[in-house]
Amino acid sequence: MTTKPIYLDHQATTPLDERVLKAMLPFLTSEYGNPSSPHAYGRTAAQAVRTARRHVGRLVGAQNETEIVFTSGATEANHLAILGAALAARPHGGHVVTTAIEHKAVLAACQLLADHHGYTVTRVGVDLHGRVHPDDIAASLTPHTVLVSVMHANNEIGTLQRLAAICEITRPRGILLHTDAAQSAGCGLLDVNELGVGLASLSAHKLHGPKGIGALYVRAGTRITAQQTGGGQERGLRAGTPNVPAIVGFGAAAHLITSAPAPPPPRIRALRDRLQTRLLTTIPTASVNGHPDQRLPGNLSLTIPGIEAADLLDRLPGIAASTGSACTTGSGEPSHVLTAIGLTRGQARATLRLSIGRTTTARDVDQAAELITSAACTFADYA
Ligand SMILES: Cc1ncc(COP(=O)(O)O)c(C=O)c1O
Repeated sequence: MTTKPIYLDHQATTPLDERVLKAMLPFLTSEYGNPSSPHAYGRTAAQAVRTARRHVGRLVGAQNETEIVFTSGATEANHLAILGAALAARPHGGHVVTTAIEHKAVLAACQLLADHHGYTVTRVGVDLHGRVHPDDIAASLTPHTVLVSVMHANNEIGTLQRLAAICEITRPRGILLHTDAAQSAGCGLLDVNELGVGLASLSAHKLHGPKGIGALYVRAGTRITAQQTGGGQERGLRAGTPNVPAIVGFGAAAHLITSAPAPPPPRIRALRDRLQTRLLTTIPTASVNGHPDQRLPGNLSLTIPGIEAADLLDRLPGIAASTGSACTTGSGEPSHVLTAIGLTRGQARATLRLSIGRTTTARDVDQAAELITSAACTFADYA
């Protein structure tokens, strides 16, 4: 039997929790009703969707379950938030503010506003730790600004943004604040009221739920225009027969997080710190990207000068990790996030993203540190 590589890519996706699978199975087999149907099958499905909506709402601190709109993932949620909110506020010629380190889904949605709706888009820069300065957001606003979109936690370097401080700038001006929280919701770090956001994008597969399901939190009273119309599902904001098994899985995954006796982040952070300390000791030229402490607990973005991360990973069949982010891997272009924090193209290409999750053990971390060190030593500069 071949052993599987050590999985250190939890920011790309997480394994489905078997309790989540168990909750989903009836809705893939016997409970196949359409939640819009008026009969018993439909009612069972509709009840399951309601329960899941409540669980996801509770995960993010929503006041009411109706504030959760299910989508196919965070990519779609980002599009619904950005296009939907901007176009509801101003159909043509408005201004949106975002940052230089957003996920491509956010940057692409903003670009659609520019290309098709006469919008201007400002991408605010970040500091060396990947943090946006709230004053820079304030300076970028114009009388035409309708939306500010700042991610909560970065998918490559893990840096957390000061959304509450940004909200203090946007709220008095009546500007809507959206956050892409795909990476932070699973750590129990997202409270929409504490942060003051009106819109938040979520993804189930980042928190041990199934792929192909996500949600947009839409604060009660927030105006957004549907981007997909038809049968009027999801309060008319996202048409299409709901993916009931996936929604049930998302709800179950959210419930596992909110009902856990002890939150996983401290354990995950301890394992990440252990891996970080070992690698910085054995590879002294390596450096860590992202904020030293305001960072996702499982994230370790490591630059090893002179070693292309893709080549290093080729020599590491025992480890499943990523160069930069999984989403930009394969494009050949150095990561826009790493270059935005000041890395050269060469340094960006020498950057490895290791991400630890709920299923990682201390043994995984220790073995991974040894394997990475040995592989680095096979490169001429380190031999
Ligand atoms: C920050 C961030 N936003 C959006 C997405 C896209 O999420 P999904 O795969 O659910 O479309 C990801 C996933 O990689 C992400 O990390």
